[in-house]
Amino acid sequence: MLIGCPKEIKPQEYRVGLTPVAAQEALAHGHDVIVETGAGQGAGFDDGAYLAAGAQVVDTAEEIFARAELVVKVKEPQPGERAQLREGQVLFTYLHLAPDAPQTRDLLDSGVTAIAYETVTDRAGGLPLLAPMSEVAGRLAPQVGAWTLQKANGGRGVLMGGVPGVAPARVVVIGGGVVGTHAARIAAGMGADVTVLDMSLSRLRHLDDVFGRVFKTSYASRGNTAELVEQADMVIGAVLIPGAEAPKLITRAQLSDMKPGAALVDVAIDQGGCFETSRPTTHADPIYDVDGIMHYCVANMPGAVARSSTLALGNATMPFMLALANKGWRQACEDDAHFLAGLNTHAGHLTYYAVGKAQGIDVLSPSMALKV
Ligand SMILES: NC(=O)c1ccc[n+]([C@@H]2O[C@H](COP(=O)([O-])OP(=O)(O)OC[C@H]3O[C@@H](n4cnc5c(N)ncnc54)[C@H](O)[C@@H]3O)[C@@H](O)[C@H]2O)c1
Repeated sequence: MLIGCPKEIKPQEYRVGLTPVAAQEALAHGHDVIVETGAGQGAGFDDGAYLAAGAQVVDTAEEIFARAELVVKVKEPQPGERAQLREGQVLFTYLHLAPDAPQTRDLLDSGVTAIAYETVTDRAGGLPLLAPMSEVAGRLAPQVGAWTLQKANGGRGVLMGGVPGVAPARVVVIGGGVVGTHAARIAAGMGADVTVLDMSLSRLRHLDDVFGRVFKTSYASRGNTAELVEQADMVIGAVLIPGAEAPKLITRAQLSDMKPGAALVDVAIDQGGCFETSRPTTHADPIYDVDGIMHYCVANMPGAVARSSTLALGNATMPFMLALANKGWRQACEDDAHFLAGLNTHAGHLTYYAVGKAQGIDVLSPSMALKV
C-alpha cells in the first residue's frame, strides 16, 4: 500500500502523523511511504531522517493526497485538504466530527473512508489513541503550573518541592483519570504535597492501591473540594464527563478564598473548562489573571512538546496503521471491533452514531459499511 503523510497546516500544530520509525516499520512490511518535505520539522525530524528510513520525500501536499491510498495525519483535515480526499482513499487521523458540521459534510461528499483516532476503543473501555495525549497533557500540567507559580509570571512565588525547612507547594488535582494520574505523579515527583480528588470511588481505590505513598486521595464532594482549593498553591483541572461539557467546579466567588497568586491549570479547557473563570489561551500567551489568581488554559497542551507528543502518538497509532496497510481497512476493522469503532465515514455514509445524533444525519452501522 502507498502510505502518505502531509505536513500539518493547522495553526500552531507542530506534530506529524508518521515518525521516521513508523515509516521504516511500514517499509519493512513491504509498503511504500511518501512524506511531504518539512512534514516532520516541527517535531525535530528532518527530511533526511525519512530518507534514511527509506521513505520518499515529495514537494507538495497535493502529491500526497493525489497518490496515497492511506493518508496518515494528526489534526482534522482543513478545508483545502478535504477538497483533495476521494472515495477509495483511507484517512487515519483525529477528526472530532461531532461539533464540526462543515467537516462532516466535506468528508461525506469526498467519499473518503475516515477512521478517527479519538473513537477507536480498547478492551478496557479506554480510548487508546486519545490516552497518549492525555498522558502528555497530564505530565505537562505541573511543569507549566510550576512556571505559572513563579513570581515574575504573576504567581505566588512558591517552589514546588520547597527546600529543607520550607514546606513544598500544595497541589490539588481534580479528576483522577489519565490526565489527573499523570499530573499527580509528576507533581509529587517534583516534591509537592499532592491530593487527587475524584467522584469515582473505584478510581480512588485504584489510585490509593497504586500510589498510596506518592499522593493522597479525597472524595470530590463540594465541601472537600472547596476546603482543599482554599489551601492550594496550584489546582489542576482534569475532569471529564464523556460527551458533555466539563462541570464548573470552582466559581469566581471562590477565587477570593484562595491564596493570592495561586495557579489554576485547566487541562479540561478543551471541553469548556472546569473553572468558571477559564477561557482558552494559546502557547503564545498562555496565562492570565482573574482576581489575583493566575490561570493557564491552553487548549492544545501537547503542542508545546511536539516531539514527545509525536513519538507518543506514533507508538499508539503504529499497530493500527500497519493493520490498515497490511490487511486493508475492511479486514482490519472486521478483525477488531474496537478498531471498527473508529470508522466515522465511508463512501458517503456517516458511520458514527454520536456524530449522526449531534448533526441529525442518518447513520449506516459500521458493520454494514464493511459490506459497501
Ligand atoms: N488541554 C489539553 O491539551 C488536553 C489534552 C488532553 C486531554 N485534555 C482533557 O483533559 C480532561 C481529562 O481527560 P482524561 O483523559 O484524564 O479523562 P478520564 O476520563 O481519564 O478522567 C476523567 C476523570 O474525571 C473524573 N470526574 C468526572 N467528573 C468529576 C467531578 N465532578 N469531580 C471530580 N472528578 C470528576 C472521572 O471520574 C474520571 O476519573 C478532558 O477534558 C480531556 O479532553 C486536554
